[in-house]
Amino acid sequence: TPVAVRKICCIGAGYVGGPTCAVIALKCPHIQVTIVDLNQSRVDAWNSPDFKLPIYEPGLEDVVRQARGKNLFFSTDVDKGIREADLIFVSVNTPTKKSGVGAGFAADLNYVELATRRIAAVATSSKIVVEKSTVPCRTAESMRTILEANSKNGCRFDILSNPEFLAEGTAIKDLFSPDRVLIGSLQTPEGISACKSLADVYGNWVPQDRVLTVGLWSSELSKLAANAMLAQRISSINALSAICEATGANIDEVAFAVGKDSRVGPKFLKASVGFGGSCFQKDILNLVYLSESLHLPEVAAYWRQVVEMNEYQKRRFSKRVVDTLFNTITGKRIAVLGFAFKADTGDTRESASISLIRDFQSEKAYVNVYDPQVEHSQIWMDLSEASPSMSLDQIKKQVTICPSAMDACKNAEAVVIATEWKEFNNVDWEAIYAGMNKPAFVFDGRLLVDAEKLRKIGFQVTTIGRGE
Ligand code: NAD
Ligand code: UGA
Repeated sequence: TPVAVRKICCIGAGYVGGPTCAVIALKCPHIQVTIVDLNQSRVDAWNSPDFKLPIYEPGLEDVVRQARGKNLFFSTDVDKGIREADLIFVSVNTPTKKSGVGAGFAADLNYVELATRRIAAVATSSKIVVEKSTVPCRTAESMRTILEANSKNGCRFDILSNPEFLAEGTAIKDLFSPDRVLIGSLQTPEGISACKSLADVYGNWVPQDRVLTVGLWSSELSKLAANAMLAQRISSINALSAICEATGANIDEVAFAVGKDSRVGPKFLKASVGFGGSCFQKDILNLVYLSESLHLPEVAAYWRQVVEMNEYQKRRFSKRVVDTLFNTITGKRIAVLGFAFKADTGDTRESASISLIRDFQSEKAYVNVYDPQVEHSQIWMDLSEASPSMSLDQIKKQVTICPSAMDACKNAEAVVIATEWKEFNNVDWEAIYAGMNKPAFVFDGRLLVDAEKLRKIGFQVTTIGRGE
């Protein structure tokens, strides 16, 4: 009979572990949920008395306010969390490897392995161990080997794969009503029973027909496949946006017409300055590496092109800015609106803004940047990492972080919209125009603003996926 889960521990209090397990706590008042992390300042922020949480996510604060201190706890005591739990989520980061075998492609599984070894070392009773991090196909096998080789008498470990499909900016909405919850297990009686235990946790709020149970390897691969196919749609529409710009077709009209086919569907067809975020690129590269390891070079090349198209889209956009500004931006001031990789998040990982600003810097332009959520220290860190040959002082001579969109645009030659924050639509564009050098240019990398309205004010407007 399946174990009724009473205590959950989540290792990793990041963008996934935090929101996911906070929602589990809210929806399952009878389950005690402890989220542990080695990062003291992150845990402190989750515990902060005034709810200054480490991540910005609409609706998250409300969930944490309701559950924290009742059945939701954040702690750096990883061992205690592990010892007490019946079920443990491993929700640590799995970034792209920076060195060694597979550098630049393979996932760095060091954090997953360390967390797994910790579970084996301190557990004194049986556990269901759930792989929540996105990992290459068959990682659960390695986890099982490590756990079994180190387990103490009487402890058994059942491994499940339960990848997360939430998107940042809509995490709480996605967690409250997921399209599906995917649970993979070994098809043994024990595996199926562990799967049922986890399915029952989700059963507290997710309709039964949305909880899909499959084999372990299918579950692991489905996560990589889902991200690869989502990113592939964006690269497809972005590739078409280049054709639109060259022909006078309009990418919004093309996307609408194509998306009306119910087999294609209307979502995720928004042309952009390029996709960002911590996962699309990482997971596709991971799939490329997996394909290569399996001696499937054509499959690897196919998926690699999705990432290459995205790099091309970012480069193409910065080149269009330079070309339009009479082929030089040296000494010119450019306002970049938005630094996060998408709206409604403070996350900047792989944000297109970083590449754009780096390109503008190397053309010796001055950049004013504004984002409503991103911490200044994060911007400096990202820009330093993007230009390793420059000191932070040198970067600060070229880049200024501004307190508002209006401030950022003052005395600028051009405004570049890099993130689709709604507030950029509602700013006083007449006042912005008045404060800019003329001719005043707007480059909309997000199909956000009403180009005609801006042209009436006097702006020269360039929009992604539209030839003028
Ligand atoms: P993150 O970097 O925000 O959080 C990971 C946390 O794990 C960090 O706070 C880190 O300190 C902690 N950690 C690492 N090793 C640890 C250990 N041994 N013990 C305790 N804590 C440890 O990462 P994230 O964005 O939450 O992503 C986590 C995983 O989820 C990744 O595999 C990612 O691919 C996947 N994922 C992310 C998203 C997303 O939207 N960010 C969505 C779906 C899946
Ligand atoms: C994505 C997936 O949508 C989630 O299902 C998945 O769980 C997650 O990755 C993950 O594994 O990390 P996320 O990266 O948070 O979520 O955000 P998305 O909404 O997918 O946006 C990713 C990037 O694509 C953003 O830069 C966004 O602006 C861009 N995008 C998205 C477009 O350019 N066009 C679109 O039509 C949609």
